[in-house]
Amino acid sequence: MRAIVTGGCGFIGSHLIRKLVDYDDCELIINLDLLTYSGHYENCDDVISEKYLFEYGSINDKNLFLELLKTKNITTIFHLAAESHVDRSINSIEPFISTNIDGTRCILEAIVERKKEGQIIDLIHISTDEVYGSLEKEDLPFTELCSVKPRNPYAATKAASDHLVLAFVNTYDISAVITRCSNNYGPRQFPEKLIPLMILNAMEGKFLPIYGDGKQVRDWIHVSDHVNGIIASYEGLKKKVLSSGEIINFGGDTEKENIEIVNKIIDIVGASLSQIKYVEDRLGHDRRYAMNSLKAKEKLGWEPIISWEEGLKNTIRWYLDNEKWVDSITSGEYRNWIKKQYKL
Ligand code: NAD
Ligand code: TYD
Repeated sequence: MRAIVTGGCGFIGSHLIRKLVDYDDCELIINLDLLTYSGHYENCDDVISEKYLFEYGSINDKNLFLELLKTKNITTIFHLAAESHVDRSINSIEPFISTNIDGTRCILEAIVERKKEGQIIDLIHISTDEVYGSLEKEDLPFTELCSVKPRNPYAATKAASDHLVLAFVNTYDISAVITRCSNNYGPRQFPEKLIPLMILNAMEGKFLPIYGDGKQVRDWIHVSDHVNGIIASYEGLKKKVLSSGEIINFGGDTEKENIEIVNKIIDIVGASLSQIKYVEDRLGHDRRYAMNSLKAKEKLGWEPIISWEEGLKNTIRWYLDNEKWVDSITSGEYRNWIKKQYKL
């Protein structure tokens, strides 16, 4: 495998790169990242390997992308680069359309051009449970057969990119699988998402903003389990256990209400319940996500191995132990965003 990881300086990408460095069949990993507000060079600066190269650039630069595919003889693309935060997509959808939809279009066109030149490239397209929409309390978890019904701008752009991938599989016979995963948590997640935001605010004695009634449900998975699923999907495609155009769900079988998570973090960190502050609900807030990962378990032999209790404790410990990382990434733009978001 000679791979490009797009968005390798982001949360999930940085964990994938670490696993690929130790993956025997992988001889090259290029991390193509634009270092947007959520991408940090620090996330991979300790990855030292002859296999690994960082390339600063955008997936929207098709010429650069094609050049990398050609000159580095790329065989595999793990596509994670994205605008990934729902609240930001509600404030401004334009970067989401540009990166998530048009950026994916550039990657797909480059794959087709390489195919014409005789090089087949496998695409592992990283998507999300949010494309399925929202569940009621009594509904069964999403399967791969559920229809796509995105309900927020982020999810709509991810669904559009999934549709583009499927259209290119059908029209140009490219080799691709789509992975859809539930909410990830773990080290190096940018603290605009629920868990790292609450950990840092709890530790610093700040208020803990709960949207609406706090009873929305997410299915949490440790990032390491998700990354194992991404690699298992690549192997499934190579071994023809998965066909091109297949979709595969990953979830942590850990449904939690937001308020339960925040209470748990307060407990572990030793913060005060008085820090909890109920704030205005997110517009169009999805009530519940939950994933049925039976297909991944049966076809790929995959299952989540990190328990919620162990994963959450280790994640909190990581944020406590990595003050330098926190300081370096929570300066500038982050502070401005938080100020704007919470009218501080
Ligand atoms: P993230 O926001 O932490 O990282 C995104 C990365 O993409 C950053 O490094 C950023 O610099 C880079 N990037 C953005 N625009 C780019 C561009 N035009 N060119 C190159 N690089 C660019 O996101 P994440 O949480 O690591 O998510 C990674 C992928 O996984 C996304 O596609 C997301 O939709 C998907 N996903 C995330 C979750 C989750 O819970 N975080 C769950 C399911 C799926
Ligand atoms: P988030 O981490 O943004 O992931 P997503 O919206 O993609 O599921 O949010 C997880 C849940 O936590 C979601 O229901 C929104 C809620 N939430 C809060 O209540 N307060 C916050 O400050 C944030 C960031 C999220």
